[in-house]
Amino acid sequence: MTEMEGLKGFYDRYPDEWASWRALIDTVEETAREFGFNEINAPAVERADLYRVKSGEEMMEQMFNFEDKGGREVSLVPEQTPTRARMVQSRKDLSTPIKWFDTSKRWRYEEVQRGRDREFFQTDFDIIGAESVYADAEVVACAAEIYRKLGVDDRVDFLVNDRRLLESVLESLGVDNTDEVMRQVIDDREKMNREEFVRELADSGLDHGTAEEVAEITDISGPILETLEELEDLAPDGAADSVERMHDLAEALESMGSADMVQLDMSIVRGFAYYTGLVFEAFDAEGELRALFGGGRYDTLIGMFGSDQKAAVGFGFGYSTTMELLREEEMLPLAEPGPDAYVLPVNDEVRTEALDLVRELRSKGLSVETDLKDRNVGNQISYADSSGARHTLILGPEELEDGTVSVKDMVSGEERQVDRTDVLDVLSTD
Ligand code: HAM
Repeated sequence: MTEMEGLKGFYDRYPDEWASWRALIDTVEETAREFGFNEINAPAVERADLYRVKSGEEMMEQMFNFEDKGGREVSLVPEQTPTRARMVQSRKDLSTPIKWFDTSKRWRYEEVQRGRDREFFQTDFDIIGAESVYADAEVVACAAEIYRKLGVDDRVDFLVNDRRLLESVLESLGVDNTDEVMRQVIDDREKMNREEFVRELADSGLDHGTAEEVAEITDISGPILETLEELEDLAPDGAADSVERMHDLAEALESMGSADMVQLDMSIVRGFAYYTGLVFEAFDAEGELRALFGGGRYDTLIGMFGSDQKAAVGFGFGYSTTMELLREEEMLPLAEPGPDAYVLPVNDEVRTEALDLVRELRSKGLSVETDLKDRNVGNQISYADSSGARHTLILGPEELEDGTVSVKDMVSGEERQVDRTDVLDVLSTD
């Protein structure tokens, strides 16, 4: 019979590969806890209506949706932000700021390519109920800390922008279809040269002079502290409040030690309809990979799901691209080592005592394996070796009689007799 293959864009991850993923997830979650985010858990399936309008047209097309047996139109969760908005509305007692994180799977029916899967993990970080620029700075600094911990912060650039800033710039230039221009033209800026970009702007109704001005302003890009001056010079008066907020963000990031990773890039818009202020994305500084993660401020989305209006800001840390970056940099977290010990019963006579030893060591928190296949001594040693066990504890009739265990150090190859009562000490000091 031919073996059945898994679905395209879905992945089987075996222990050696998954150990690296696990280590990366641990780093991300450890950072979340350090920044005071609390873990939540949310459904993998939601009513499809949750995403209608709120996430945007493109998301509706990418959803894995189906009718459940009760005739409801439901969908595998393509992103968690709308779920969180729903969750916040159903618990009015929560005190703000609410800081949540969670790592789980998302599903989007996308064209599968490098960094774009149909099933993928995200750790979402959100601060809900805080309008201040310090909440913006906190999420950006938290994301920066992840890359610092991974040792690749010099390969990563965070590009930030503010939709309100861009919108007021466009409005002051007389553009009235700002949303369309931002989301349909400026969002694709990086895919075009300047000439094509100006043509696209003209196609969406801008006269040539205005299109040139928009091109000039969306070209602003560079380290946040330095680029702010350029922005201050070029931005029209109508954008003064947003410019000031960007200024405050830069200062806060500087105090938090993260400004060096952050660039202001006036062409960043992001696809989701719900972002209202800060938008940001992280990229590989060498420009080879797709976005590492993305996020932004969404001050009106929560209000669309109930009576509470709450401002929010957050990001979705996507793993596929960061894994690729770590692989390229040879910085992948190493596969987990094997068990602390392999207990080797020489024959069936000592099996009960061997199992006793296994239980005792496991109860002290050690990871321990033993024979499950009735293997002879030679084969057990080979297995212990290939499993990466740190020590092999050999128990035969002689050891049983002497109350000892033969402890083999699998790195040095040395073997010594140890009193049964001292085994734990020996394992913990080696
Ligand atoms: P997003 O930009 O759609 O935002 O996704 C965030 C990150 O998830 C992306 O930058 C990427 O790393 C990863 N990602 C997205 N789609 C895929 C895919 N098909 N395969 C692999 N990785 C992918 C959101 O989802 C927002 N809900 C984030 C957010 C949270 N905004 C505020 N709070």
